[in-house]
Amino acid sequence: MTERHDIELTVNGVVRTASTEARTTLADLLRQDLGLTGTHLGCEHGVCGACTVLFDGEPVRSCLMLGVQARGHEVRTIEGLAGDGPMTPLQQALQDTHAFQCGFCTPGFVMQITALLEEIPQPTEQQVRESLSGNLCRCTGYETIVDGVLLAAGVARPAAPGAGHHQGGAA
Ligand code: FES
Ligand code: FES
Repeated sequence: MTERHDIELTVNGVVRTASTEARTTLADLLRQDLGLTGTHLGCEHGVCGACTVLFDGEPVRSCLMLGVQARGHEVRTIEGLAGDGPMTPLQQALQDTHAFQCGFCTPGFVMQITALLEEIPQPTEQQVRESLSGNLCRCTGYETIVDGVLLAAGVARPAAPGAGHHQGGAA
């Protein structure tokens, strides 16, 4: 029989306990043992960023960590942002800019951006792009995501060359 480890960790401000195998990833612990399926799994080997959660305030790829490593630590997931209340200003801004399409990558992006804005409340566009460089989205061109982050931060985006000129449609 596989040995299990009893661990205690804080998830979204609540102390949780779990009995987990040593090989279980943090992502699987969150999703399967704690029922927090808002954390998504894409590549499962550290490339896509879909599984990003905050670990003691730092964004981490939960597919690359073991659940037992979270013993005694604090984890924040997408479920912990708004709870049952209204969306956070960041989530609202991302909705307002129609930042995402299918939504699969969204929790990872939102957690990554949450960490960015907690560290740098008013990032430059370059800082936003660098912060998001490890999160992959198959649906968008990233522009609307960057727009949403800058909107949430209250930072005006420099106008693109030619912006403001109406581009007439083909006759
Ligand atoms: S699922 Fe973890 S980085 Fe892709
Ligand atoms: S919105 Fe579909 S993968 Fe990002």
